Amino acid sequence: MSLHRVTTIADLRARLDDVRRDGSTVGFVPTMGYLHDGHVSLVERSVAECDRTVVSIFVNPLQFAPTEDLAAYPRDLEGDAAKAAAAGADWLFVPSVDEMYPVPVATTVSVAGVSAAMEGASRPTHFAGVATVVAKLFQIVGPCRAYFGEKDFQQVAVVRRMVADLSMPVEVVPCPTLREPDGLARSSRNVYLDPAEREVAPVLHRALTAGAAAIAAGEADAEVVRRVMAGIIDAAPLGELDYVEVADADTLEPQARCDHRSRLFGAVRFGRARLIDNVGVPTGEGPA
Ligand code: PAJ
Repeated sequence: MSLHRVTTIADLRARLDDVRRDGSTVGFVPTMGYLHDGHVSLVERSVAECDRTVVSIFVNPLQFAPTEDLAAYPRDLEGDAAKAAAAGADWLFVPSVDEMYPVPVATTVSVAGVSAAMEGASRPTHFAGVATVVAKLFQIVGPCRAYFGEKDFQQVAVVRRMVADLSMPVEVVPCPTLREPDGLARSSRNVYLDPAEREVAPVLHRALTAGAAAIAAGEADAEVVRRVMAGIIDAAPLGELDYVEVADADTLEPQARCDHRSRLFGAVRFGRARLIDNVGVPTGEGPA
């Protein structure tokens, strides 16, 4: 089947009702578009595991603060359609803002606890915007499985908690982060980096990896690990540190003592680009 573009909720629902009546499984990859290899890896995983795959492209105004890059967010619908088709997706759902939010929403979803630290502290309205649009997209698509990247590790935790708390009938599938050869995590926002910023941007991943190595080597004081990571970022030019954190991979709560549940997180601004990344602690049993 080739890729079909759908712009209305009613049209997508009607088509997917037919599919589900056949007993076919539906996989779903929500995105904000400007697709790169990281997004494509999620689509390919869905295509491999589900009978039909829906990719959505919607730059969700609810998850941007007024000072953020909503208007500038990069877009390339034709390129996205070509990539989604090549990866084997069946439907590209591209609703307008009016289609998704015909009136200002009065009903929102906010997920306490896992939303609090890190991205939630730096961007206080962000995760309620994410949870609300993802809940709405799940209602529209009705997927068996939904694929999310660990690049946005805290987002995965927020979505998982929402699904568990509200008994949503969908399996959330976390997928590994795709990186450039120099370690920089693939991101639609990397396009904001100028050549000098692009050259130093891998320092974020390098710092997180150094923090993880310190824990693997026995460092148990999270403050020491935070200092190691911040020191590496501060020593590089052009980057402005937002935060580095050692947090519990399940609760996303910052830790005082490192343990086997620790995960390392960071956010750095390079010019117009605010980049985030995270890594696990190597166990000696495969990649983090
Ligand atoms: P967006 O930033 O477009 O990302 C869509 C999905 O791609 C997310 O699950 C994200 O974690 C994943 N992704 C991004 N970069 C990746 C990489 N380098 N490797 C693997 N996966 C990667 O995240 C959003 O959109 C939005 O918040 C959304 C969930 C669509 C709600 O609006």
